[in-house]
Amino acid sequence: MKSFTVSAILIFLALCAASLLGCRSTSRAYLPQYIHGNELMRPQNYQAWIFLTSGLHMGGESSGEGTFTSIFVTPPAYYHFLASGRWPEQTMFVQEKRTSSSRANKADHWPTDLVRFNVQVKDSARYGEKWGFFSFGFSQPTAKPNPKTMCWECHFQRGTVEATFVQLFPTLRAAGKKFGTYQADLEGPYAVQY
Ligand code: HEC
Repeated sequence: MKSFTVSAILIFLALCAASLLGCRSTSRAYLPQYIHGNELMRPQNYQAWIFLTSGLHMGGESSGEGTFTSIFVTPPAYYHFLASGRWPEQTMFVQEKRTSSSRANKADHWPTDLVRFNVQVKDSARYGEKWGFFSFGFSQPTAKPNPKTMCWECHFQRGTVEATFVQLFPTLRAAGKKFGTYQADLEGPYAVQY
């Protein structure tokens, strides 16, 4: 009986250790990776992250094929936001932009080729305004942080939670409102009524 208890405890401890190691390596996969100090490596496997939203004609086109955007966020950041309405340090977003296609004389549209790939990283220690913005173009493997003028203004003036467009993320709007981090006065032209 005694040896059975000891074995059970050992098996339990081994399982705990394995799951802890598993959790660590999984969560490390969601952290931004840099080379040469400040060059961010293009995130891989982002399509297995949490999908937040898509939009057509988000480039401001009034008609035609237009740009199709999709946004993904690292899973630990998503669950942290649901529980707090805030983005944790090391949150990473991918915004992919694709051309779109449609049938002749029909309004249906679907995403086609990747044309641009943008990343936004929260790291208050690295970036003065807490967020770093990166443009990887179509296939660039690494990117340096964009100069402040390129991306900041629009995000800080129009993003409803911490310079991110939570007004366009249907599964997260409610959490932002519940925890009082959602700035409804910033919805502006990107407001989505529901
Ligand atoms: C004119 C306004 C505007 C500018 C300038 C802008 N963005 Fe955005 N960005 C948006 C909007 C609107 C969304 C959400 C909807 C979408 O994806 O189209 C967004 C979403 C994003 C997201 C997803 C996370 C989030 O904050 O919601 C990333 C990543 C991103 N942008 C990167 C960039 C980068 C990199 C630049 C600079 C090269 C940039 N953006 C410049 C308007 C802008």
